Formats: sequence, structure tokens, C-alpha cells
Amino acid sequence: RPRVLSGIQPTAGSFHLGNYLGAVRQWVALQETHDAFYMVVDLHAITVPQDPKELRANTRLAAAQLLAAGLDPDRCTLFVQSHVPEHAQLGWVMNCLTGFGEASRMTQFKDKAARHGADRASVGLFTYPILQVADILLYQAHEVPVGEDQRQHIELTRDLAERFNGRFGQTFTVPNPYILKETAKIYDLQDPGVKMSKSASTPKGLINLLDDPRTTAKKVRSAVTDTDTVVRFDPEHKPGVSNLLTIYSTLTGTSVAELEQRYEGKGYGALKTDLAEVMVEFVTPFRERTEQYLGDPETLDAVLAKGAEKARSVAGETLARVYDRIGFLPAK
Ligand code: TYM
Repeated sequence: RPRVLSGIQPTAGSFHLGNYLGAVRQWVALQETHDAFYMVVDLHAITVPQDPKELRANTRLAAAQLLAAGLDPDRCTLFVQSHVPEHAQLGWVMNCLTGFGEASRMTQFKDKAARHGADRASVGLFTYPILQVADILLYQAHEVPVGEDQRQHIELTRDLAERFNGRFGQTFTVPNPYILKETAKIYDLQDPGVKMSKSASTPKGLINLLDDPRTTAKKVRSAVTDTDTVVRFDPEHKPGVSNLLTIYSTLTGTSVAELEQRYEGKGYGALKTDLAEVMVEFVTPFRERTEQYLGDPETLDAVLAKGAEKARSVAGETLARVYDRIGFLPAK
């Protein structure tokens, strides 16, 4: 079985619809066909200030949401990044292989640093993508299911894997991004020119999966569209409507063409009302399942412990090979 690896930050509390449609939904599907490793990336979370209590709670909350979304611990390996020390260890090695200029070109760092103020941005934020490289290479992943915003980090991973292999001999699998065209970028419902995200979205444009379903329905019904009335998929001229069609199509398995036909002559109101309902039907059981997993932290922690053990066995093997290749003296 080919291997996949991916990660999600625990910082946000509730996942948003972009996280789910862009990434987590694919994780669920890929556990059937791949040897799948998925993790909550708490090391990445501390690149910006975190409250310790909240971080701990949000890490459990993230794991609970991943299970609620359909990850099955019998079909995939679900773990917390800090439980596997090899991530930080290989991260250091990869730091030493990356050029300063190369790291400076990472657009997500530039955006985040601008938001936090260049002086207050941590060095950890700067080397964030390099830790992500280590995450992926430790597991010899063939594919990395993510949204479009992570593409540059996967490119960096490929570059560094090839660099290491070239310098020290074949060691790492060079991974491919696994980005579904349709859902690579889900947009803000109020500002369909920007991607949906915790940091950049307006509260009304951001669909949090754990919000009260009534709030979610309201946000969908008040989504920004355009002054035309025809329900047609045309991201360039009709970004708002196209975003709604993408969401609708993905959540229901109905093709966009079929939806266009169904809403012919009906206008945006009908589309939004129906999509609001679809969304409520999706988030209501998701919320309930998340609550259930959170209500039993012992079982949740046991799942994560088992995942960490499995992850460490794979990561440890890769790291040992890397240390050997580099020329570190083995500890006796
Ligand atoms: P994070 O936590 O920001 O996001 C998790 C996943 O959600 C995707 N995503 C979106 N997809 C479509 N439309 C959107 N509006 C949208 N917003 C977010 C992201 O692309 C991501 O796949 N750096 C990563 C976490 C990470 C990781 C890794 C990923 C750490 N190590 C190793 C893969 C492999 C991140 O911050 O994701």
C-alpha cells in the first residue's frame, strides 16, 4: 500500500469548512486505499503564542473532530506530533540543509510574519515549513493530502528530499502533493476572493463546523453572491455562487452540472436555502460525534497513545538511517 501523511493544527478550536473539504475529507477516503498517517501538529501550533491550557484542550478537540469526521483508528494511524520526538530531531537536520533565502521565500511565513509584526514573529514561525518537511519525510510518504495553500511546502519537501538523497545517498521517498482540484481552495462566504481561514475571514464568512447549526444556516443564507441571478459555475465571474456550488456538490455527491440544472430559473435564494439545510444535516451529527469523543478522554488518549507508538516505530527507523548517513557517532 502506498503511504500518505498529513497534519492539521489544533490552534483553531473548531475546524472550519475549508479544513474539512480541502483536506480532512480526503484523509477519510484515503485510509481505505493507503497506509495512512494523520497527526495533530502541536509543535507547529507553538510557532505563535499559545495558552497552555487551551493548547492541551484544543489538541484533544482536534483529535475528537478527526474521529468525528470519519478517521478510524483501525484503518489509519492517528497521533499527536509532540508524542513523536523524531519530528523535532529530523527538523533540526532539515534546518541545516535549507538555505536562508530558500526559507525566506515561503509565502505563508511572509503573510503570517506580516500579520504578527516582523519583530514579534518567532524563529519557529520562520522554520515552520522545514518542520513540516521533516513530518512528511519521516514516514516516507508518497502522497500528502492538503489544500492548495500547502503546495509550496510540499515543493520544499521535494527539494530537500532530493538534496539529501543526492548528498548522502537514497534515503527519502520524494512525495507528491495530493490536492483535489474541486476543493483545493474553499472561499470566504462574505468575500469569495479570499480563502476561508480563521485568521483572514470575517466571522460571517467563516463556517466553523462546531458552531450552532442555526448560526451556520444563517451564514449560508447570507452568503455574498452577485447581481446576476443565474446559478452557474463560473469562478472568474461568479466566485460566490461557484463557491456555494462546490460546497453543495461535495457535501451531497451531486455534480455541479446537475445542480446548475436543478436551480435553473430558480435564483440564488433557493440555492442558499437548500444548501443551508444540507449544511445543517452535515454539521449536526458531526457536532454530536465530536462531543461523544470528548466525553470520553481516556479512550481518546488511548487512541492517540497507540497511534504514537505506531508512528514512532516508522519515524525511528527513518531517523536512525538519517543519523547514520550524516555521520553521527552511534550511541553505544
Ligand atoms: P492547517 O492546520 O492550516 O490546515 C489543515 C488543512 O486544511 C487545508 N485548508 C484548506 N483547504 C481548502 N480551502 C481552504 N480555505 C483551506 N484552509 C485550510 C490546508 O491546506 C491543510 O491541508 N502546515 C499545515 C499542517 C501540517 C502539515 C504537515 C500538512 C504540518 N505538518 C505535514 C501536511 C503534511 C497547516 O498549517 O494546515
